[in-house]
Amino acid sequence: MNTGVMPDTQPDFTLEYIFEQFTKLPTFPKAVQRAIELIEDPKTTTQDLVDVLKFDPAITTNILKITNSARFGLQNQVTNIDTALVLLGRDQIKEILVASGSLSYLSRELYGYGMKPEDLWYHSIATGICAECLCDHIELEDPSVLFTAAILHDVGKIVLNLFVGAKLDKILDLATKKGFTFTEAEWMVLGADHAIIGSEIMRQWDFPQDIVRAVRNHHDPDLYIQDKLSALLALSNIIVSNLGVGVGTDGFRYRISPNILEILDLKSDDIYDIMFETHKGFMESQEILELYKS
Ligand SMILES: [Fe+2]
Ligand SMILES: [Fe+2]
Repeated sequence: MNTGVMPDTQPDFTLEYIFEQFTKLPTFPKAVQRAIELIEDPKTTTQDLVDVLKFDPAITTNILKITNSARFGLQNQVTNIDTALVLLGRDQIKEILVASGSLSYLSRELYGYGMKPEDLWYHSIATGICAECLCDHIELEDPSVLFTAAILHDVGKIVLNLFVGAKLDKILDLATKKGFTFTEAEWMVLGADHAIIGSEIMRQWDFPQDIVRAVRNHHDPDLYIQDKLSALLALSNIIVSNLGVGVGTDGFRYRISPNILEILDLKSDDIYDIMFETHKGFMESQEILELYKS
């Protein structure tokens, strides 16, 4: 519970200074972004997608590995991307693109957040799986937009990690002893939180506005109840954080705000079901996640 007592210090950094650190991040793969845009367009043909993806060996390899995995139970090995794309279908292709396109960003040690290499990636994939489970209970026009937001929702941690490390004691002191949430403590010490930093990164990467907004809102109870996508992303993140998947020092510190269930018309029993389904889905995905890493 927030004590309402403000610390007597000013944040040590400005937003502008932190935004300048984005130059240390490589940009999201353009081929992946272009392919995601093409998939959104119903007029796109398989050949259009092949033309964009065939020059990206990492993505092509992942698409073939997933297509040939036990999940699809195919009798014959698929060796070309054209056939794989036909067999997979649009939603599945999009998920592979986002998951493998984000791997290089999300698989890094975040010392400041107490996260080992791959923790953030696992956390992000689990959030994507939880988002899919939520979409079985709640109708959403385009569930793949939520999946993309879920995979990339914590990308701001990568930039803030550069600053959190040296200030971790101060942040944890506020979060553990003074009753602030981890996000509130980030603001007090760093002058930013990973949600606003992440949304700025995604805006610069030209992701759609609704995804940028959902990432911005995912820890702010006043903001995330204002649109369905933000509410679903926030709830997915809270559920996965409370399941303890790939969380670091800020794990188990996020609370479900009372009105998010009301907004989404969910009952407490639904949350237990979704937690169970997410955990099951995550455990079942381990085999495929190993394929991405190999
Ligand atoms: Fe977050
Ligand atoms: Fe998260």
